[in-house]
Amino acid sequence: MRAVRIDEFGGPEVLVPVEVPDPVAGPGEVLVRVAAAGVNRADALIRKGVYHRAGRPPLIPGVEAAGVVAAVGEGVTGLEVGQRVMALDGVNAPGFYAELAVVPATRVTVLPHDVGLTEAATLPVAWLSAWYCLRHLARVTKEDTVVVKAAASGVGSAAVQIAAEAGARVIALAGSAEKAAWAGEFGAQVTIDTSAHPDDAEVEEVLRLTDGRGADLVLDTVGGGAFARSLRQVGHGGRVVALANVALEPSTVDTRDFYPRNVHIHGFQITDLMEHGYDPRPDLQALLAGVAQRRFVVPVDSTFPLSDAAAAHARLESRAVLGKVVLTG
Ligand SMILES: NC(=O)c1ccc[n+]([C@@H]2O[C@H](COP(=O)([O-])OP(=O)(O)OC[C@H]3O[C@@H](n4cnc5c(N)ncnc54)[C@H](OP(=O)(O)O)[C@@H]3O)[C@@H](O)[C@H]2O)c1
Repeated sequence: MRAVRIDEFGGPEVLVPVEVPDPVAGPGEVLVRVAAAGVNRADALIRKGVYHRAGRPPLIPGVEAAGVVAAVGEGVTGLEVGQRVMALDGVNAPGFYAELAVVPATRVTVLPHDVGLTEAATLPVAWLSAWYCLRHLARVTKEDTVVVKAAASGVGSAAVQIAAEAGARVIALAGSAEKAAWAGEFGAQVTIDTSAHPDDAEVEEVLRLTDGRGADLVLDTVGGGAFARSLRQVGHGGRVVALANVALEPSTVDTRDFYPRNVHIHGFQITDLMEHGYDPRPDLQALLAGVAQRRFVVPVDSTFPLSDAAAAHARLESRAVLGKVVLTG
């Protein structure tokens, strides 16, 4: 089969198409013919050798995909050859930047007929993470004012919709006027262009928009200085969920910025959760139902052929992406 493999860490050019032997489904496993694979920021960090959970090359990246079941291993029940499915797997498993991939049956979810393969391929990481953080960790309600950082990103555009669907008032932050306006169309009441509100001005704008009280919830995928600002953007009893550090820098935090207001800080990491027993399938079913009923719109920024994974990564890292980048065929 064709796959895209990293033989050494580096820039997008190290994503090289290669021929490798077809994988075979063992007991409890499913062989998926990949139709679409989500491209994630973690893939780019793995490629560069800076991801905290990454193994060493050679590596076939890709942790999420949708496709068709090509074979089922011994002992697998409830899944059949020919079914349309989506799959989510661990970071160092042979990945989905390939024509075929073997995945544990417990990481496979059957798709409803009215959800497309390209949109399904974007759900297991960005959408599931936004869902878990907002619904399970922060328990978003219609009483909440929710700040979503990097709201035009894969996680951000999902989070805006999930929070809006819960009835919350959403303040969407993004790094340009165009990105902020785009993210706002998914149900945010207010948008902030962070390029026009740098540093403390970002905090002041959120406080102004909440009559000085601060937000109830901040979803922070940016990290670094943005995380320090998140702590100052929530009010009494507020929740801050940190799930990434795109900034790739430490945060300098003054504890006086959050303990006096009884602020809760949550961390989230999907792979770690699954390694500790979390079964993502019920939450993925809920997301699929939302997409099938068109309560959620899956924004796909761009698609690239598998052989052009390098261009897909260059696009992802351009910081111009609106929604998700996907590899197809
Ligand atoms: N913990 C988990 O389990 C988990 C799960 C899913 C995703 N994640 C992580 O969440 C983060 C966001 O994922 P995503 O798919 O939404 O990413 P993405 O689509 O690549 O978007 C990242 C966004 O972050 C913003 N940003 C702020 N500072 C940046 C910087 N220094 N360099 C680059 N971008 C910067 C940019 O938006 P603006 O220009 O609008 O600021 C950019 O568009 C990633 O780090 C990803 O690995 C974690």
